Amino acid sequence: MRTVPAAVGAPVSRVEGPAKVTGAARYSGEIPLGQMAYGWVAQASIARGQIDSVDAAAALGMPGVIGVLTYENAPRLTAAADGELLVLQHNRVRYRGQVVALVVAGTLEQARAAAEALPVSYAAEPHDVILRADHPGMYAPGHVNPNYVTDTATGDVEAALTGAAVQVDETYSTPAEHNNPMEPHAAIARWDDDGLTVWDSNQGPTLVHRTLATLFGLEASAVRVITEHVGGGFGAKGSARPHTVLAAMAARTFGRPVRVTFSRQQQFCLVGYRTPTIQQVRLGADADGRLVALDHLAYSQTSTVLEFAEQTAVISRVMYASPSLRTRHRLVALDVPTPRWMRAPGEAPGSFALECAMDELADACGIDPIELRVCNEPAVEPEGGRQFSSRHLLDCLAEGARRFGWADRDPRPGVRRDGRWLTGTGVASSTYPARSMASTATASAWPDGSYEITIAAADIGQGARTAITQVAADELGADIAQVTARIGDSGYGPAMIAGGSMGMASWSWAVAKACRQLRAQLPASLRPAETITVRADTTSDVAALPDLLRHSFGAQFAEVRVDVDTGEIRVPRMLGVFAAGRILNPKTARSQLIGGMTMGLSMALHEESIMDAQFGDYVNHDFAGYHIAAHADIGAIEAHWIEESDGQLNPLGVKGLGEIGIVGAAAAIANAVWHATARRQRHLPLIPARILS
Ligand code: MOS
Repeated sequence: MRTVPAAVGAPVSRVEGPAKVTGAARYSGEIPLGQMAYGWVAQASIARGQIDSVDAAAALGMPGVIGVLTYENAPRLTAAADGELLVLQHNRVRYRGQVVALVVAGTLEQARAAAEALPVSYAAEPHDVILRADHPGMYAPGHVNPNYVTDTATGDVEAALTGAAVQVDETYSTPAEHNNPMEPHAAIARWDDDGLTVWDSNQGPTLVHRTLATLFGLEASAVRVITEHVGGGFGAKGSARPHTVLAAMAARTFGRPVRVTFSRQQQFCLVGYRTPTIQQVRLGADADGRLVALDHLAYSQTSTVLEFAEQTAVISRVMYASPSLRTRHRLVALDVPTPRWMRAPGEAPGSFALECAMDELADACGIDPIELRVCNEPAVEPEGGRQFSSRHLLDCLAEGARRFGWADRDPRPGVRRDGRWLTGTGVASSTYPARSMASTATASAWPDGSYEITIAAADIGQGARTAITQVAADELGADIAQVTARIGDSGYGPAMIAGGSMGMASWSWAVAKACRQLRAQLPASLRPAETITVRADTTSDVAALPDLLRHSFGAQFAEVRVDVDTGEIRVPRMLGVFAAGRILNPKTARSQLIGGMTMGLSMALHEESIMDAQFGDYVNHDFAGYHIAAHADIGAIEAHWIEESDGQLNPLGVKGLGEIGIVGAAAAIANAVWHATARRQRHLPLIPARILS
């Protein structure tokens, strides 16, 4: 019999909130260790070529310098899947800003001064850094991330387009964007008789632990990664990054703990970014708006270090029914840092092109854009034919339309004026895969009636620790005050990262399983004479899932005002309605969703990393030159969800919320800008110069 109210579904505040606001919570760069030394990275000043020499002696003559690691003396690393982690292993320069040395000194300031003064001479070669669709190096990669086929084709898309009553054929582009969590990447490494311990800011210690063991040729038991508090990630911390490897190398070489942190400027080079994309979308429809052809071709870039193939067009395999449907990806390897994951990689830029093209089709057909989506709603997966575990896109559109007041909308573009401002509204659909991955967790019952959960989850600000506590409390029939969740330590066994919106959908399964097993072993008094601990592993449970297509869906609405003289865009209102499975905690869920929508607004209006062709680098690498939406940019944002019960996911019915909020948000804004101005905007970001041109 339950004696306490359910914790799942309650708006529980973050359990570590007091520790964070009082400064008691320590982030990875803040662990106080004796004898700490500080490493600072020296970066390549050419975009392609080789290092001729590094004058380490010059740095060693500077105050406080303990040593300099270069390709000549750095510890050798074994192969890694991610070539960006093989730092200081050779003298090739593959992009401007690449790590060419690590200067280690007694203080951060001494290390930085010596690194910035470090004389390095290069033999430069011509570089190639600009993405264009007709680049002669364009090729079809073997697959796109994480393991989708590169191209798909059903039916004869060319013939269907030719015969279509209404056609849209447009090219859209999205720029490079850089993830900028509040906390830059940071690691402290220490070697002792037991091996390597690293305090590291990442989205999940399991992957970093495995990577370090491989790179340094260590037994898994000789590496421990601790990730207690993390100040955001957005994908940039979804795997090991070079700072961690450098800290571990330096700590081993110099025999003392070493801390390596990146500056904000270095974040724009060394930890990944969203690839720019160029996307051609061709739609064909009958006069009623029913699609007969959908063709989505996406171009993006990778580096010469590692093939990273963004899954930009994959969203078009899921969204709309069309008898002919083709998706293709092309990639070119440039002399640039390797792109990487950034919130909804693939779906975020892909939805911009697809959802803007659907808006163009609605206009061409003279149909309301929501009606257009209703009449193209598929019964099964459009490309592949699998059943959806649940799909409530139309409910989201209907509920969003009701809340937003869509019924009163005048469909004509460019006819509403309020002083200097043209006003308009727009809509777009959203989707993101809902997956669960194998994880392990322990649950312990103590004689005093308290419980402890351990799982190598990461709380990057989304509230994982809190939600895990809620799940455990309900499974144990306990109050959340009786449960302590310990997370962020590779020593707890393998667990999924906080990534791909798979965190809670994976961790909640392992935690629930461990708690159910523990509860079965408890005496009637619920107080064991001695501590009982059980360990659960969901590997076989996840493997046994039936082959269904699992996705979250959503509807994004935006209202914009466009200044006819300056081209400035304001967004007084955004509203999103999502169908994302069971919502464990409405307080943290709302925060995640409006965070995603805010990032979508930022993508629509502000964010753009600008490549300088001459120097071969992104030139705006700080917050002065790279604007991210701030409070003054944001109007009213509402996030709602519909109750969705999907029994084909995981025991708690969780779909994950990390990414769905950003998908479609930029398209809703761009579509609203068209509705305001009667001019299509197909290239992000929607800066005043573009609006006025
Ligand atoms: Mo997120 S881009 O799935 O880490």
